[in-house]
Amino acid sequence: MSESVTVAQALTRASGGLAPGSITIARLDARLLLAHALGVPPERMISLGAQPLSEAEQSVFRDLLRRRRAGEPTSRIIGRREFWSLDFEITPDVLDPRPDSETIVEAALAKLQGRAAPRIADLGAGSGCLLLALLAERKDATGVGVDISAAACRVAAGNARRLGLCGRAAFVCMDWNSAASAGGFDAVVSNPPYIADGVIDTLAPEVARHDPRGALSGGADGLDAYRRLAPAIAALLRPGGFGAVEIGAGQRPAVERIFAAQGLTFRKARRDLAGIDRCLVFTSESST
Ligand SMILES: C[S@@+](CC[C@H](N)C(=O)[O-])C[C@H]1O[C@@H](n2cnc3c(N)ncnc32)[C@H](O)[C@@H]1O
Repeated sequence: MSESVTVAQALTRASGGLAPGSITIARLDARLLLAHALGVPPERMISLGAQPLSEAEQSVFRDLLRRRRAGEPTSRIIGRREFWSLDFEITPDVLDPRPDSETIVEAALAKLQGRAAPRIADLGAGSGCLLLALLAERKDATGVGVDISAAACRVAAGNARRLGLCGRAAFVCMDWNSAASAGGFDAVVSNPPYIADGVIDTLAPEVARHDPRGALSGGADGLDAYRRLAPAIAALLRPGGFGAVEIGAGQRPAVERIFAAQGLTFRKARRDLAGIDRCLVFTSESST
């Protein structure tokens, strides 16, 4: 029989053993995992400190901690990720949304200022995080997310429903190049796969083992998706529209060249918190 343990004690013990030297992060991880084990929202944990854990709850929590120690990201274990302060469901079929990708949302929101009722396309939507963050901010906007993975489209549609955005967002399973016949969009956002294939297995196990290959693989030089995306974005934009795409470290010159060859004019780059160029903004020809 297990000894009696309260929520507060379980958290203190777990955070000591999760990430030595990084107690704050470990405590956050432990809190999310324990909330998941108890089936309560993380924000309720603060009021549960003195509550004793049953043996079954302790056993579930121990199992979650074991998975975390083995290198599985907390977001993957609990199946949720916060992005742009919104709660997204994630499954093994979608990329775990990254804080760096919020630079695309920031860039797009800035460019959308002054445009009424914008139509937005998200190419390679994954969990739907980019499009849904934009629609959450812009109540007059509508959008379409496209992904080649049917499973990803189902996850994105579920997120749209939970966030109360499904009336303004549609997710369609298709290759982004097949979507190019639609046209007339004010904005196209995209975070495509951009890791060179030879590098994927050298990435942190949290990424290499847990993000889907199709969300990472950018071909031999990491640029395959941009070569295919650039003509799709040029065709989808209405005159005066803009594209905001995420890039990997050091890819800016090559991506600028690829987009220029499709008549897309580079406007600005946005850096992530590490100071790396992360988002490039292009406009269709003749726009300002
Ligand atoms: C890096 S993930 C980005 C997901 C999400 N936008 C995000 O930022 O978290 C790239 C996505 O592009 C999708 N994808 C890859 N090639 C595609 C193609 N040719 N057409 C449509 N989607 C594609 C993948 O399935 C994956 O979901």
